[in-house]
Amino acid sequence: MNTPNLTVFATGGTIAGKADSATRHDYRPGQIGIAEFLGLVEELGIAANLTGEQIANIGSEDMGPEIWQRLHLAISKSIADPDCDGVIVTHGTDTVEETAFLLDLTLPTSKPVVLVGAMRPATAVGYDGLRNFANAMRVASDPDAAGRGVLVVMGDRVFAARDIRKSRTRGTDAFQGFPRASVGLVTPSSLDWFGAPWRVGEEARFPFRADLPDVPILFVHAGMTPDYVARLVTDETCGVVVSGLGEGNMPDPVRQALAAMAAEGMPLVRASRLDEGLVDREPEDDENRFVAARALNPQKAR
Ligand code: SIN
Repeated sequence: MNTPNLTVFATGGTIAGKADSATRHDYRPGQIGIAEFLGLVEELGIAANLTGEQIANIGSEDMGPEIWQRLHLAISKSIADPDCDGVIVTHGTDTVEETAFLLDLTLPTSKPVVLVGAMRPATAVGYDGLRNFANAMRVASDPDAAGRGVLVVMGDRVFAARDIRKSRTRGTDAFQGFPRASVGLVTPSSLDWFGAPWRVGEEARFPFRADLPDVPILFVHAGMTPDYVARLVTDETCGVVVSGLGEGNMPDPVRQALAAMAAEGMPLVRASRLDEGLVDREPEDDENRFVAARALNPQKAR
């Protein structure tokens, strides 16, 4: 195999984070620039030609439409370059699932696009960033990674953007996939896929929109009253995602308030506040004009 040409877009996060000592818990994400990071990667001695670009250097709680637009444009250019074999995006873990799914919906699948992060900053004992990045290089260099949509590598697992969700606040095993637990296993020296590529055809599913509509998430809890809905929805609101109880349930007065909005034409999606589980379409959804999120969690349904 020829030495792969990989383009790296850095956006910040813990993978680029630093603390004042190797044992302190508090640290600042987005401190290491792309040149310094690629210098660390070079020391691993992995055969690949890496070129890097800094798109942002933030904690991913600040990720949003403006940076998504720049990232989308940069990745689209790279994918179109015949010399580029694959793309890696370094990203904070808090919102990596949202960025990955947005890209998954709006990029063609002709070349591997892999997002990667770390749970421990670069100064920490047991920094996981280089291991995860070496794994991401392995995946992005594999022609068989194309046609699987956007992928996320965390730990020694490969997740599909559609499935991945952050499920723990700490520890290097902080991600789960649902409904597919993961789609591959990876180490710096091995890669095993579970099954064939599932996204045949190279076209993006949707065009990328810079002007993303205002869609709030209503987190349902016991004792919720309809005035929570009134406080959440403004004239700008274009749709609402319900992070519902169990299989997307909500107190009846809340359901009635939302059904009244849906009857006026507002898209209303029922998802679940639980980490795992389908929210299937029910007969009342026809009556209420609600959409069932099925396996998408609220932030992805949004
Ligand atoms: C962030 O999402 O930027 C901070 C947390 C992390 O990267 O693990």
